[in-house]
Amino acid sequence: MDKVLARGSGSAAARSRPRTAVVAMVAGAAVVAATIAVATSASAGTTLGASAAEQGRYFGTAVAVNKLSDSTYVGILNREFNMVTAENEMKWDATEPSRNQFNYTNGDRLVAHAQANGMRVRGHALLWHQQQPGWTGSLSGSALREAMLNHVTQVATHYRGKIYSWDVVNEAFDDGNNGARRNSNLQQTGGDWIEAAFRAARAADPGAKLCYNDYNTDNWSWAKTQGVYNMVRDFKSRGVPIDCVGFQSHFNSGSPYPSNYRTTLQNFAALGVDVQITELDIEGSGSSQATSYGNVTRDCLAVARCNGITVWGIRDTDSWRASGTPLLFDGSGNKKQAYTAVLNALNEGGTPPPTTAPPTSTPPTSAPPTSTPPTSEPPTTPP
Ligand code: G3I
Repeated sequence: MDKVLARGSGSAAARSRPRTAVVAMVAGAAVVAATIAVATSASAGTTLGASAAEQGRYFGTAVAVNKLSDSTYVGILNREFNMVTAENEMKWDATEPSRNQFNYTNGDRLVAHAQANGMRVRGHALLWHQQQPGWTGSLSGSALREAMLNHVTQVATHYRGKIYSWDVVNEAFDDGNNGARRNSNLQQTGGDWIEAAFRAARAADPGAKLCYNDYNTDNWSWAKTQGVYNMVRDFKSRGVPIDCVGFQSHFNSGSPYPSNYRTTLQNFAALGVDVQITELDIEGSGSSQATSYGNVTRDCLAVARCNGITVWGIRDTDSWRASGTPLLFDGSGNKKQAYTAVLNALNEGGTPPPTTAPPTSTPPTSAPPTSTPPTSEPPTTPP
């Protein structure tokens, strides 16, 4: 925020004012900036969340709500992170265990914890081919389509105003070399199911950023990456309400951090969407793991529209891939080398985010006014 103020003092308007006024303004701005810096970041440079905030980004983690009673876990969570994602608690099987009967107990617990501790929430995930409740298995075609859109509407409405960004659709692309959609029960309801879901989510919560989220879309040269890119480009050209793309970024020896990762983030951002690193974990240890974590962090900071980074768990023992020790804290809650690499990269800084928030509403489809501009000359007297 202090950087925005500093840039503003160099504007054309400021330059045209008398020198004494400029000096006073700059001094005033410096006081305001210093006040804001102190007020917002007592821990600037020393925790992941505060250091990310200094760069206009967030730093988040997946949270398993049943671990909120673990004092070591909660201590790290509250100290280091300013964004949370429910690891499982907002998925379809958790929120709608019986058709049209919703259970928000655990999701609400996470939202309450976030709100009480100044964190924001990424919603994960409205529609996915996995972790569906059993009752969807007996549905197909228009019946499944109706149930699916009702789910999106109900859950996004329940959490309206409380979610920073929703993973509206998760993992809808095939893992092969065809760049095609995954053949899921959702896909079988019609090729337009993804855009229908985004429209339903926008109607239910106009304030949330709406993301498409996937894995193995990090390497720019991979067919799956290209498939998702083509879908997002098509959505943007047709006014489908998509705001962001989530890159899960689960890295291991079979799917390592790719050297063109920054290119991927930049190319998606150039389509006019934000990009977010949504489920980061990197298997390994020591300096090689730390180097990859530092690279991912610098890549996000280099892309103005990269909003932030979320790691998929806190301690290695909390991970879905615990044996790969892929996270920033060891099983005892100690900071790893990878933690220091991320913190240092955050503190090095990067490209500031855009100063104006991009519009979240769909642009108007009506033609612009066609009236001719006035023909008289503008007044020539100085203001
Ligand atoms: O809650 C039940 C519990 O009652 C039961 O006793 C136990 C027995 O296995 O299972 C528990 O559910 C497990 C659940 O995690 C909560 O721990 C499920 O079996 C297990 O399948 C589930 O795994 C989750 C996985 O998604 C499901 O596919 C992982 O925790 C979660 O980290 C993982 O997250 C996904 C993202 O949503 C999407 N991207 C990939 C990522 C990693 O797979």
